[in-house]
Amino acid sequence: EISKRAELNNLKISVQFQVESTNISALSMDLDEGEYGVVAAECQSAGKGRMGRSWTSPLGGVYISLVRDFSTIAAMPTALTIWCALSIVSSLNKFGVKAQLKWPNDILINARKAGGLLAELKGNPRGPCRIVVGIGLNTANQNLIVPKDELSNTGVSPLPVGSIRGLDRNRLVGKIAGEVHKTMYDFALGNLANQAAEWIRYDYFFGKSVEVCTSEGRFEGECRGVDGEGRLILRTDNNQIKFASGESRLRMQR
Ligand code: BTN
Repeated sequence: EISKRAELNNLKISVQFQVESTNISALSMDLDEGEYGVVAAECQSAGKGRMGRSWTSPLGGVYISLVRDFSTIAAMPTALTIWCALSIVSSLNKFGVKAQLKWPNDILINARKAGGLLAELKGNPRGPCRIVVGIGLNTANQNLIVPKDELSNTGVSPLPVGSIRGLDRNRLVGKIAGEVHKTMYDFALGNLANQAAEWIRYDYFFGKSVEVCTSEGRFEGECRGVDGEGRLILRTDNNQIKFASGESRLRMQR
């Protein structure tokens, strides 16, 4: 228990005003063996989203990345991000924010995207590698992680539709970093539990008619949550299909 706590405390933290992307900074962070890194920033000049998209990153949002080097990987890295997204949504609900999940990595509030995760891997996916899990959230509070006098005159942008209002942003950053850190720690030990039942509690798509787009094509069916490895389960007319990656969206009712 003590060594577990020591390992969990083995964190290198870097808080910045502006970086290109916290994921980029985390990918090049100097880490000792077994050490975890956290990079947090007030804003990003070139925030990265999934599928090569950019992530608009004005002041007032939350931008953090957690990083660790692995000698081998015990589970699918996709499962890591799925369970990280779940841990964030479950914490938000504990804070009283009714956040939901949209497979694979989206955080929704009032059915609108309010955040997302981008995991990146450098090195060999089956051998020694570095994994970064980046989290971006649209938050409302204007309190800052770095002291105000280090700031330029840049204003805080208007809030996007899906956003987290009324929460202390610093507390939120601390909580999220802690949750994601714990999930990464379990992943490193090969102890990531199957949290499929917990996922369903917050799954915006569960029981709904959805469309999944992958490199192999477009599939339609009823969403049945995820399996133990975080794969989306789609029930079609005569089958059940599982997806390890892809994009999902609600199907328009005809
Ligand atoms: C998505 O497309 O939904 C994922 C967005 C992930 C954005 C976060 S913000 C912090 C970290 N740094 C980045 O450049 N991207 C991720």
